Amino acid sequence: MKRNPRVCVVGSINMDMVTTTDKIPAQGETVMGESFTTYPGGKGANQAVAAARLGADVVMVGAVGEDAFGKSLKERFREEGANDEAITTVPYESTGVATIIISDGDNRIIVAPGANKYITPERLKEKEDIILSSDIILMQFEIPMEAVAHTVDLAYKHDIPVVINPAPFTDIPESVIKKVTFLTPNELELSEMEQSIDASLIKGKIIETRGEQGVAFMLTNGEKKTIPSFPAQVKDTTGAGDTFNGAFVTEYAKEKDIEKAIQFANAAASLSVEKIGAQGGMPEREAVVKRMEIK
Ligand code: RIB
Repeated sequence: MKRNPRVCVVGSINMDMVTTTDKIPAQGETVMGESFTTYPGGKGANQAVAAARLGADVVMVGAVGEDAFGKSLKERFREEGANDEAITTVPYESTGVATIIISDGDNRIIVAPGANKYITPERLKEKEDIILSSDIILMQFEIPMEAVAHTVDLAYKHDIPVVINPAPFTDIPESVIKKVTFLTPNELELSEMEQSIDASLIKGKIIETRGEQGVAFMLTNGEKKTIPSFPAQVKDTTGAGDTFNGAFVTEYAKEKDIEKAIQFANAAASLSVEKIGAQGGMPEREAVVKRMEIK
């Protein structure tokens, strides 16, 4: 592909309220933390920004509330060079918010969805042209499942590949599994999926992200492969999975080579954990190419 890949992300937009602490409070306990900052976040928005920084032409389909967070998060997309025309501002609703506690380099997250709940099939019908002009579609589960299912149907009819990052995990309808191109669960999400889904339906579709242990995937012939991760100086893992997904779809849309796209996405994710904030450490293409040279 000579031109930039066109990536459409249908997903969540949140403001992240990030507190760092040495000690996580037990129930009923108050502890003194170290710092507090707000960062742009939301799995959908993070994945869109990751793809835009890596050279994709990105369109974000999502919703924010009618508040200061919504206004500033929309502006962020423009600053990142992503298309924000398909982001709806929902009247009288608040923007999605994620409360994040970072301790010992790892995170705990609670999401209050706010406007993200209003991404419905009806609203998506209004954005159909924009969705269908993409080379690949990326979704997560911080928006209603009906919206995910609607988009998967639409993409399937028009032969557009769809990648779903099944996070936070929820039951996935069989019709969605059958039509999706790839699913990118982490180990926990995969084990939940395996309990409820017939293994034959997901064969050849799973790209399992396993942190430091790399990424495992199964070819359609059943052969399993693991692509190792890159060493990193970990400061904050928030958004590492999102960086992986944004990078994977960008590279896969360009080259149609799963293995190469996973290697590229692994390198991008390893860079993303070296700075604080979900989008803070997301790299540009040159940095990823440089990191790949150390292997
Ligand atoms: O994956 C990290 C993201 O999850 C955060 O940015 C937060 O908003 C939650 O959606």
